[in-house]
Amino acid sequence: MSFEYQVRDLSLAEAGRHELRLAEHEMPGLMALRAEFGDSKPLAGARIAGSLHMTVQTAVLIETLVALGAQVRWASCNIFSTQDQAAAAVVVGDGTVDEPAGVPVFAWKGETLEEYWALADRIFDWGTDAEGHRIGPNMILDDGGDATTLVLEGKRFEAAGAVPATTAEDSEEYAVVLEHLRKSLAEDPERWTRIAAGIKGVTEETTTGVHRLDEYFRNGVLPFPAINVNDSVTKSKFDNKYGTRHSLIDGINRGTDVLIGGKTAVVFGYGDVGKGCAESLRGQGARVVVTEVDPINALQAAMDGYQVVRLEDVVETADLFITATGNKDVVMAADIAKMKHQALIGNIGHFDNEIDMAGLARIPGVEKVEIKPQVHEWRIPASEGVAAHSVIVLSEGRLLNLGNATGHPSFVMSNSFANQVLAQIEIFTKPESYPVGVYRLSKQLDEKVARLHLDALGVRLTELTKSQADYLGVDVEGPYKSEHYRY
Ligand code: NAI
Repeated sequence: MSFEYQVRDLSLAEAGRHELRLAEHEMPGLMALRAEFGDSKPLAGARIAGSLHMTVQTAVLIETLVALGAQVRWASCNIFSTQDQAAAAVVVGDGTVDEPAGVPVFAWKGETLEEYWALADRIFDWGTDAEGHRIGPNMILDDGGDATTLVLEGKRFEAAGAVPATTAEDSEEYAVVLEHLRKSLAEDPERWTRIAAGIKGVTEETTTGVHRLDEYFRNGVLPFPAINVNDSVTKSKFDNKYGTRHSLIDGINRGTDVLIGGKTAVVFGYGDVGKGCAESLRGQGARVVVTEVDPINALQAAMDGYQVVRLEDVVETADLFITATGNKDVVMAADIAKMKHQALIGNIGHFDNEIDMAGLARIPGVEKVEIKPQVHEWRIPASEGVAAHSVIVLSEGRLLNLGNATGHPSFVMSNSFANQVLAQIEIFTKPESYPVGVYRLSKQLDEKVARLHLDALGVRLTELTKSQADYLGVDVEGPYKSEHYRY
């Protein structure tokens, strides 16, 4: 099969390569795994379909998977998150712009929804074998579950013999998925069923994707094992928290340059992401308030010094609204209509359903003005008791740290992606240990990922004596905590 790829501009590859080179130094976990497994190549024979933000950090992940023997095809998991120079560098690889020799990437910044799903499809299309049969991947590396969902929805509709008609309840995006699968079914009525049968497993990056996997498993439709990478401690307690602590205000600053100090900021959800967001806004001098549905998280927020409120308490007075719940319908159009002039609204949760963008567009007389890509002013006409005003929406309600900025920095992603690599090795090399189900990596591997990042920060770990270890009932080499310890 000829070398295929779809990226914005291969001439960006050199700039991308420089960024990758700097990122490699900041990703000691991934580089250590290259050193450990580069010769034994545990992923030889793996055909990985990757769907994860196509950033500089992801480029280092992709090249690590290749160094461990895998073949890889890649798409982004968000229409705005691709860094075009990183995509170009991965495609060019050791080759040249005229003769690229790297990894097939199908992604660019600013895809339409139709393009997004067509590009997602390309990571499942590995050409044909000698007999002319189509080849698919045997592993998925997913972020948010879109790649897995494409396979499972395709398989479901193939079993039913038809794709259902789109209904008024379907989101614009799901209507695109249905249309895509309609065409696929007409061309090859068993394609997704075959692909699903060939997949050994999926490793999932984020909270929202794990929710989807858990639901597929509960409903008995998950056909292959999954590793929940998100809930490795060295992922969710680092990337979700310290990553967003860095990249939330990066997105706000690059998007708007509005001064954060002194403003009132509302953070919706005080999970790992909400904690990082609240801390970063407070670090800039904002007065941060939090909304929560879970009494435990609400109590945590209160004890951390944040007032816990309901949206209605602050909707007319707050300056910044940041959703971080992974839930839907958190800020509705009717709320936005009450906000003050030039209130700033952004989402950092995985999907774009936290903020009611469709409802906003339906407000009678509303006008959308592009300030620059991924920054829009929505002008809302006067209504009963509320003067005409406008609000600023970042990244059209999609995750703003990747839409308006460049996502999390390399060092924290090295932790997340070291977990991804170990999870891929686990499922690919030990299928007998993973019957269909949703698993986490062992605590040994979690601690290993942390260890790989200590030297770079000058950490000197204290070693347990044998007698201390016996006293605690643990091994000198770890793991040091029980499974239910919460960090
Ligand atoms: P989490 O489950 O730890 O936290 C979410 C919190 O929101 C929970 O405490 C929950 O009680 C609360 N919540 C749910 N519905 C709510 C509502 N209607 N109002 C107020 N609070 C509500 O999840 P985590 O790990 O913090 O992730 C949140 C989202 O961010 C997910 O979609 C995840 O996939 C995404 N994510 C995004 C990243 C990024 O770089 N943008 C990085 C990591 C995760």
